[in-house]
Amino acid sequence: MNYNIAVIPGDGIGPDIVEQAVKVMRKVGDKFGHTFTTKTVLAGGAAIDATGGCLPQETIDVCKASDAVLLGAVGGPKWDNLPGGERPERALLGIRKELGLFANIRPAVIFEELADASPLKAEILSGGLDIVVVRELTGGIYFGERGTKETDMGPAAYDVEMYSEGEVRRIAKVAFDMAMKRNKKVTSVDKANVLDSSRLWRRVVEEVAKDYPEVTLNHMYVDNAAMQLVRNPRQFDVIVTSNIFGDILSDEASQITGSIGMLPSASLAEGNFGMYEPIHGSAPDIAGQDKANPTATILSIGMMLRYTFGLGAEADAIDAAVKAVLAKGYRTPDLYTGEGTLVGTAEMGRLIAEEI
Ligand code: IPM
Ligand code: MG
Repeated sequence: MNYNIAVIPGDGIGPDIVEQAVKVMRKVGDKFGHTFTTKTVLAGGAAIDATGGCLPQETIDVCKASDAVLLGAVGGPKWDNLPGGERPERALLGIRKELGLFANIRPAVIFEELADASPLKAEILSGGLDIVVVRELTGGIYFGERGTKETDMGPAAYDVEMYSEGEVRRIAKVAFDMAMKRNKKVTSVDKANVLDSSRLWRRVVEEVAKDYPEVTLNHMYVDNAAMQLVRNPRQFDVIVTSNIFGDILSDEASQITGSIGMLPSASLAEGNFGMYEPIHGSAPDIAGQDKANPTATILSIGMMLRYTFGLGAEADAIDAAVKAVLAKGYRTPDLYTGEGTLVGTAEMGRLIAEEI
């Protein structure tokens, strides 16, 4: 079968890691008899340099005409002084909104081979860690009304946090469906002791839970969740939360694994369409130096195969290839602790492709 994929390398290490991910994808295609037709488009700083805007209409059109999108990373110091609305990061928000990518899936998994990379004590993580943050991605304070006004304390700026029942219901369903395929536990994170938007969130999540009697639901305030994640992360299975809380908690969860260069993510629309990207950023300091770890992007291809194309065996092959390469002791600089074999971006990609 043929699949059409829009590829956005982006900025910094984006092009380095995307190249390796595409290499692995091609290998999966050869092995399993699929063709992946890619079309490369611009977003972020690369688009600003080439066209003046961070998200050209052509990029949106190509993404919409594709079956899925692969993204490297956007942003870098070169564009840091642009006004908020023109920064490369704005491209991400634009793509999410334009493509209706309301559900952001961010797994935080500890790879057995990298267990000692976590900054947490070994006893806290004994038995491993496998949690997934389901973050609402097209609503809340990121997209609410914003503005400035005069106050008696001087000029003020505001951003509104607002959630509709429909928005909460659809993200809650994603979380419960995911829990059904995992350990059947959902923790909904909010700030319902203070915020009206969180009280609505909590009420709707409880309604949705009624359709999933097998899933255990608990609620947690976001401040407590931030603490529990480092105190006892193994209590979590699926965490579902708002856009901004999910932004913060998913970074925390990823850091617990100690290997941010290993974690993929999916941003899903209604239906099967999705955008897939590593959870790390563009790391401009090591761009183009063959130092970046391509594994998170390669695993993002795995998520694409699984979620958008329903190709479970192919996705499993990618996961297994990554594990095999780690087990053989190959490490990119971010993972290297003096043992095993230090390899660069391209060699890591080649090794993983070879295992497919
Ligand atoms: C993320 C990033 C983005 C976000 C930024 C770059 C706009 O932090 O994907 O988590 O806040 O959503
Ligand atoms: Mg973030």
